[in-house]
Amino acid sequence: MTDISTTEQWAAVEDLVPSIGEVSLRELFAADPERGRRMTVNAGDLHVDLSKHLVTGEILAALTDLAHAARLPAQRAAMFRGDRINTTEDRSVLHTALRLPADAQLVVDDRDVVADVHAVLARMTDFSHRVRSGEWTGYTGERIDTVINIGIGGSDLGPVMVDSALRGLQTAGIRAHYVSNVDPADLSATLAEIDPATTLVVVASKTFTTQETMANAHATRRHFVDALGSDNAIASHFVAVSTAADKVADFGIAADNMFEFWDWVGGRYSVPSAIGLSVMLTAGPPAFIELLEGFHTMDLHFATETPERNAPVLMALLSIWYTCFLGAQSKAVIPYAQDLQRFPAYLQQLTMESLGKSVRLDGSDVTYPTGEVYWGEPGTNGQHAFFQLLHQGTQLVPVDFIGIARPGADLDAYLPGEPGAVSMHDLLMANLFAQSRVLAFGKTEEEVLADGVDPALAPHKVMPGNRPSTTILAPSLSPGVVGQLIALYEHVVFTQAAILGINAFDQWGVELGKAQAGELLSALTVDTRPDPAFDSSTDSLVEIYREARGR
Ligand code: F6P
Repeated sequence: MTDISTTEQWAAVEDLVPSIGEVSLRELFAADPERGRRMTVNAGDLHVDLSKHLVTGEILAALTDLAHAARLPAQRAAMFRGDRINTTEDRSVLHTALRLPADAQLVVDDRDVVADVHAVLARMTDFSHRVRSGEWTGYTGERIDTVINIGIGGSDLGPVMVDSALRGLQTAGIRAHYVSNVDPADLSATLAEIDPATTLVVVASKTFTTQETMANAHATRRHFVDALGSDNAIASHFVAVSTAADKVADFGIAADNMFEFWDWVGGRYSVPSAIGLSVMLTAGPPAFIELLEGFHTMDLHFATETPERNAPVLMALLSIWYTCFLGAQSKAVIPYAQDLQRFPAYLQQLTMESLGKSVRLDGSDVTYPTGEVYWGEPGTNGQHAFFQLLHQGTQLVPVDFIGIARPGADLDAYLPGEPGAVSMHDLLMANLFAQSRVLAFGKTEEEVLADGVDPALAPHKVMPGNRPSTTILAPSLSPGVVGQLIALYEHVVFTQAAILGINAFDQWGVELGKAQAGELLSALTVDTRPDPAFDSSTDSLVEIYREARGR
């Protein structure tokens, strides 16, 4: 396969690197009064403002050529078609099929996967209605008012993030808890809060072998059997979401209580599958369907829009520009929406498990950076924590701001110095817009001095500016918008991987740690050491730990 960094298109982008050092965002905006509008693209309901990026038209055109050199349209078509593009696992990558409308058809390996998807959706919908209406009861006949989703990685982060994003829609009196960590503190705290008689447990695991999930699921089952007094209670209180019917049966969950998905859905791409069951239970089937429609809207945008107006393609090209050509190593995602508080964590798995690769699809070493470190917190909290580094630190950290125009709920606030009440949502959004401005345009020494600042202090108060950001503005935090946001980043990841020639759909790096945890567990519990021993650091840590545990 072609190493993208050896192409003339790569060299053309490289040649343009010095040109961006010669201009500032202030100058680019001054030279083009329409820049803000011209560089905003609409994708579904999202306005994606890319104007505050360190690019000129020439640079964007060169980056777009890079996408063509990597045959992005052909690679994209292969994914949507169901080709086995996850070559190391010999699998199709079809999360986009999870949100195709019921009247679509996609035949892969002689099966219409859309029919399979909608059959499961129909079962999920029926089950959710029964639970939400009170027709489905617990073992003692009580109505279900609590859900515990037990899962980790994609079987946790997607549902917990969407659940929080849609919490304004939880009107059926059902709340969900999410247990993921094998740290017993996680499960104990949840079990202490819930009543087993009114709780439904969703065991969510693609493989149904993940250590953390299995440990939590077994411990929860024991707790429920003890509390409800019979093994028979399991049928009324446990359901599973998995691809592994045999393992679900071995656990003791009947086929009727299992919701299937397929090996062509990667864990971190699985929230629009049955893995989203807990969301359907809390927010209701119509909200879940609207979420899927949102995903599909963005899929269509990605599949059909020209690169110049294609939001995920442009965002991916900018990521490549910053990481491969300007040396950025991380990206901050700051939702100015408390309900999106888990979105940065969700994106960490989506982007870093997908792009954390050092070899290309053909096994050859990459010679350029692949993914960036994603991180973030909701605004305005982040402003009072880490924004100082974004504004005046020495690193280049592109930021994605996410803002919502119409709030789910608003409150009046009275601020010192303000004559009347102000909307707290307006205050939140004013902060978002202010931050992106200050990052981009900064404050010069002359401007600082003009404020009457002591010249000795002036260098400390100068804001360098020229710090890039995207602002994504959505009309409201509806289920459709949440689906669009997730799919937007899924396709950003796809595009980065396609151009860089890496596999965004495997995660072999996670496996070795899992295997070694098994060996270490034996060493912690019984005094068995492999021969030769682990290493002097681990040996001594194991010894200190065993001593502390009185072993
Ligand atoms: O962390 C590795 C991983 O395989 C993720 O990709 C996945 O989302 C998570 O573990 C959970 O896997 P499962 O759904 O099979 O329990």
